[in-house]
Amino acid sequence: MRELSLHILDVVENGITAGAGRIEIRVEESLAADRLKLTVRDDGPGMPPEKASNPEDPFITSRTTRRVGLGLSLLAAAARRCEGDLTVAAEPGRGTEVAAVFRHSHIDRAPLGDVAATLAMLIIGNPHIDFAYSHTVDGDEFSLDTRELSEGGADLSDPGTVRLVEQGIREALATMNRNSGREETSHAQADH
Ligand SMILES: Nc1ncnc2c1ncn2[C@@H]1O[C@H](COP(=O)(O)OP(=O)(O)O)[C@@H](O)[C@H]1O
Ligand SMILES: [Mg+2]
Repeated sequence: MRELSLHILDVVENGITAGAGRIEIRVEESLAADRLKLTVRDDGPGMPPEKASNPEDPFITSRTTRRVGLGLSLLAAAARRCEGDLTVAAEPGRGTEVAAVFRHSHIDRAPLGDVAATLAMLIIGNPHIDFAYSHTVDGDEFSLDTRELSEGGADLSDPGTVRLVEQGIREALATMNRNSGREETSHAQADH
């Protein structure tokens, strides 16, 4: 996929389909260690052990619409192409954690893409799910939790409110990139 945010969307959708109520998305960038790690954690029923131990096998899927499930296999392939890997930890009844690691500077690593828009779309489309997002670049951190926003009085069923949240995320990430010495060249965060 052209952008890591599309992989994030795909893995988050697995959690939604599995019936999670809360999904945590973490992006950890270390320029010092030349490493980028994506983690998606959900509190759903847990990936079936057969798939959790073979996440790269596209023929293990609970889909009924077609016989292959490509989301995790494609992410695993993308990570491996960039000197990284994909790991899954799942506990029946207690959720699933999927983590993909990439060499940050690898020529084949897709850019992160528009994470702010991805989150906004997830929030609007899934009003009954809590999303927590955290993004670190070396020592700098941005985080957001829709449960906290709602408890603070934000109405996340209002598209205008979500648009403001989206702008806030975009600006915070741009600031973090500037602080790390990288240039922001477009809306969709350019991280190359
Ligand atoms: N977060 C999750 N919780 C429970 N099961 C999962 C989760 N993620 C993936 N799975 C299982 O792994 C299968 C493969 O996922 P994936 O590679 O994304 O392909 P697809 O979603 O097209 O089936 C799913 O069909 C589902 O059975
Ligand atoms: Mg999937």
